[in-house]
Amino acid sequence: MRIVVAGGTGFLGRHISRALLDDGHRVAVMGRDPRKVARIGALAGAEGIYGDVTDPYSLKGTLDGYDAVAVAVQFPNYPMEQPRKGLTFDRYDRAGTSYLVDEAQRANVGRFFYVSGANVHPNSDKSWYRAKGRAEDIIKESGLDHSILRPSWAYGPEDKALNKFVKIARFSPAVPIPTRYDGLRRIDQRIQPVSVADIGRAAAAIFSKDDAWNRVIEIGGPEPMTMVEVVRTMLEVIGKRRVLLPVPTAAMKIATAPLGALPKPPLTPGGVEFAVQDGLVDLTALRAVVGMEPVPLRDGLSTYLGRG
Ligand SMILES: NC(=O)c1ccc[n+]([C@@H]2O[C@H](COP(=O)([O-])OP(=O)(O)OC[C@H]3O[C@@H](n4cnc5c(N)ncnc54)[C@H](OP(=O)(O)O)[C@@H]3O)[C@@H](O)[C@H]2O)c1
Repeated sequence: MRIVVAGGTGFLGRHISRALLDDGHRVAVMGRDPRKVARIGALAGAEGIYGDVTDPYSLKGTLDGYDAVAVAVQFPNYPMEQPRKGLTFDRYDRAGTSYLVDEAQRANVGRFFYVSGANVHPNSDKSWYRAKGRAEDIIKESGLDHSILRPSWAYGPEDKALNKFVKIARFSPAVPIPTRYDGLRRIDQRIQPVSVADIGRAAAAIFSKDDAWNRVIEIGGPEPMTMVEVVRTMLEVIGKRRVLLPVPTAAMKIATAPLGALPKPPLTPGGVEFAVQDGLVDLTALRAVVGMEPVPLRDGLSTYLGRG
């Protein structure tokens, strides 16, 4: 199959592109800088094409002659939204997806694969869940053959979440864990960390199975874990003993509020809120339809994190 992967240079996108290439598909990676593709070893064999999902005119003709499109786009420096610069979930996830749907319809592309996320809902009060929920609705109503993959919290060699904890743990005696409180009661964040390699494998498997289309498939690690359990598992894998230090999100939001004025804020109150969301998923369709069993966190981490 000839497949365009929008966002194929990204963290999830490059694993999805690699898995599709390894399955014998022809892959064109769409992004704002097609030359980037040649610099990413994992994308060897893919071609780069220009397309900016915030500019519908740039998408015209980009899907002509292709059989499918896969979408794993997000705005630069997400999840830190900067509305004044146009960096919002709504602009990239909802509007960007709708422009790609329009172009897929025009170009008669047979299949539309979209990377969504856990907990999405079109009426959520959280901008990230709302934008993806609305994008899902646009895709479902488009009449295109579609498959929607909803990953929980993804980790891997290039992630921007767990690797922050890894870096801190390598030099600091204490690892801060952003923690929500209800009064004095700690609320444990519950997620199902999923290896990015499994997301790539799932995408490729979906493209090989007719049953996996016109449905939503959730993907996450085999067991729900708290963030404390996730960090403890990481510490065991890298062979470190560290104190885990809960840091209240309320304090983090106050401390990060001024950072929103920076050109590329490392964290903002919205970014803190995004980072502490639960991410539980139902693996029934992944197991029954895609025929996949995701790897547990310890095994996934051991493939790329060394001791020391
Ligand atoms: N990471 C996770 O844990 C996780 C979990 C669940 C769901 N997701 C979802 O998975 C998707 C991919 O996330 P990610 O973590 O892989 O993000 P990422 O690493 O930041 O990659 C984002 C991709 O979007 C591309 N992009 C940015 N602006 C663009 C534009 N205007 N037009 C076209 N492409 C553009 C980037 O390419 P260029 O910069 O080269 O243009 C890059 O390839 C997102 O929808 C995210 O919400 C991620």
